[in-house]
Amino acid sequence: MNEIVAPETNDYKIVIEDLSVAYSDGTESLRNINLKIPANSITVLFGPAGGGKSTLLRTLNRLNDLADVIETSGHVWLDGKDVLDPEHDTIALRRKVGIVFARPIVLPMSIRQNLTYGLELAGKKDNGEYQKIVEDSLIAAALWEEVRGRLDDPAISISGGQQQRLCLARVLALQPEVILLDEPTSGLDPISTGKVEASLYELAKKYTIVLVPHSVQQAARTADRAAFFLGGELIEYAEGKKIFTNPQDQRTEDYVEGRFG
Ligand SMILES: Nc1ncnc2c1ncn2[C@@H]1O[C@H](COP(=O)(O)OP(=O)(O)O)[C@@H](O)[C@H]1O
Ligand SMILES: [Mg+2]
Repeated sequence: MNEIVAPETNDYKIVIEDLSVAYSDGTESLRNINLKIPANSITVLFGPAGGGKSTLLRTLNRLNDLADVIETSGHVWLDGKDVLDPEHDTIALRRKVGIVFARPIVLPMSIRQNLTYGLELAGKKDNGEYQKIVEDSLIAAALWEEVRGRLDDPAISISGGQQQRLCLARVLALQPEVILLDEPTSGLDPISTGKVEASLYELAKKYTIVLVPHSVQQAARTADRAAFFLGGELIEYAEGKKIFTNPQDQRTEDYVEGRFG
């Protein structure tokens, strides 16, 4: 093992250092990314399609191991340990760093089983606490009131907006520390979108949230901090209040003002 010393990460949950990712077709999707992500807040990654946002999210919990990646270099320090270290336990990592995708993918089981299946896989026996975990995660995902009377109905019988909140609840049931969301509301109506955003504000009190929003408007509404990605590069990273009202880079300004993308 090479002796690589973690930087001072005490103030940040995740410290990304000189991260580059290339796919096997030669696409260099991320180039020398440096980004520090604090706990208990919402960090937004935004920018036009193809910028590398999804690649970055998938690198944070090593889901990109399953993609056609030829080279990943740099470091992703999570609580001072390098996630990219080949020895890193990816199963434990993916529990600690949960992810929600654009399309809700519910399991062909009941609402309740969607939440308990992961616990069973993790080897956690039900000694009476499953019910509380089901309830708590549905409350946190702003879905409890709508499904409390039908927990044993098939998950596919609820609406798309409800299914997406169920996917968020499923991540929460595993008691993660970091929650990644890749355009989680892109297929949802405005009311469901509002519910998801409201639950993210609540969750940010307790978790580290990294969100790829589906629009600049959503980015501006949700971001404590925001990072603008363009063509695999991190162009600008600042507090949400600042980047959406007074961006420093011309490219950020053009994008925020709707001149491209
Ligand atoms: N699995 C993959 N195999 C090959 N190239 C990919 C793969 N995923 C993404 N890319 C390429 O990487 C670049 C960044 O894509 P992505 O991370 O999806 O950006 P964004 O989420 O910002 O739209 C694009 O050029 C895309 O074509
Ligand atoms: Mg994407």
